Amino acid sequence: MKVLVVGGGGREHALCYKIAKSSKVDKIYCAPGNAGISEIAECVPIGAMEFDKLADFAKENEISLTVVGMDDPLVGGIVDAFEAEGLRVFGPRKNAAILEGSKAFSKDLMKKYNIPTASYEKFSSAEDALSYLETADMPIVLKADGLALGKGVLICNTREEAMEGVKTLMLDKQFGDAGNTIVIEEFMTGREVSVLSFVDGKTIKIMTSAQDHKRAKDGDMGLNTGGMGTFSPSPFYTEEVDVFCKKYIYQATVDAMKAEGRPFQGIIFFGLMLTEKGPRVLEYNARFGDPETQVVLPRMKNDIVEVFEACIDGTLDTIDLQFEDNAAVCVVLASDGYPEKYEKGFPVLGLERFRDKDDYFVFHAGTKLSDGIPVTNGGRVLGVTATGQDLKEARAKAYKATEWIDFKNKYMRHDIGKAIDEA
Ligand code: AMP
Ligand code: GLY
Repeated sequence: MKVLVVGGGGREHALCYKIAKSSKVDKIYCAPGNAGISEIAECVPIGAMEFDKLADFAKENEISLTVVGMDDPLVGGIVDAFEAEGLRVFGPRKNAAILEGSKAFSKDLMKKYNIPTASYEKFSSAEDALSYLETADMPIVLKADGLALGKGVLICNTREEAMEGVKTLMLDKQFGDAGNTIVIEEFMTGREVSVLSFVDGKTIKIMTSAQDHKRAKDGDMGLNTGGMGTFSPSPFYTEEVDVFCKKYIYQATVDAMKAEGRPFQGIIFFGLMLTEKGPRVLEYNARFGDPETQVVLPRMKNDIVEVFEACIDGTLDTIDLQFEDNAAVCVVLASDGYPEKYEKGFPVLGLERFRDKDDYFVFHAGTKLSDGIPVTNGGRVLGVTATGQDLKEARAKAYKATEWIDFKNKYMRHDIGKAIDEA
């Protein structure tokens, strides 16, 4: 069969790599893709938000399955658009992708169905938000309701900062309409864990855990980014945590969406915080995480296309989801200056060192071909991933492999997975 993947980052490269391993797949297309993806898929120059063009392409090329990696098209209704044309597509419909698309919706859902999360209030008027902040406890967290490239969350230590934050989100509209409504929530502390899951509307199957490193600089300093590195599994995701989440969070979320008339088919990504009072949901995403996918999929044993099909057909209960008993670490190589200002267009050298190795991967996040040569084309350029028997071995191998790659302004964190030493 032919598969179309929508997106063009490290997550989609990891998806293409895993889909290419499926015995069911003859050919992969990726829109728009990137230089690395072009080695395993035919890249198609159509943007992820061009639903009509994508659907036409899928029809003309007899695509049997489309897999959507990114949040914007899902929240915008790409699945509905494909289904309306009779096309098979993996991902939540618009009315379910709202789980990620609106923080106010997801917080209200958790409250209504007693799913553990930070306590919160929501506001559609800056005046009301400011007045609430006059007596609220600090630190406090402000969240733009809508999608804001992962940047719409402000952690405020002081009342002044929080008031300033309300102005930034609601009056200056730094994230546009995403800030028309905001959620103001309790500040929590604890370790963060990312748990991805497959969902078919009623059944949920949990993948192995992972941990992201969101800040730009070592020691979790610097600005929030899309993610500077990941490891999997998280040693902090213990049996006890798993039992709690299975009882109060995972199935409860799927059942809640079904009860609301918004059955969720696709990936639910649970952003969890392991607080002293137990696990709490920080956020939901309606898609694979990036770079979490780059450490989770290389460890997955199943044929992923079979799992996608089971989600679409509502037969996920028949799938025995399995992961290798190993570990993986991904170190993101970025352009110096990311997530603010950075230069691009520099040749990327050393990629051939990853060929024909089963335990080393280089997933392209922001690259493109220029006269046939891969050049940097984004803030996050590559995800260098290695698997190993355990996290320590995987980390040592991943860092060794970062040395194989060279490009101008190469930047990375040096402490990805350091938390492992504390486990
Ligand atoms: P989100 O996009 O909701 O995952 O938020 C981005 C990051 O902000 C999270 O990964 C956390 O590090 C932090 N964060 C979000 N909500 C809270 C909270 N209630 N308490 C503490 N930190 C938070
Ligand atoms: N790594 C976090 C995310 O994909 O949102």
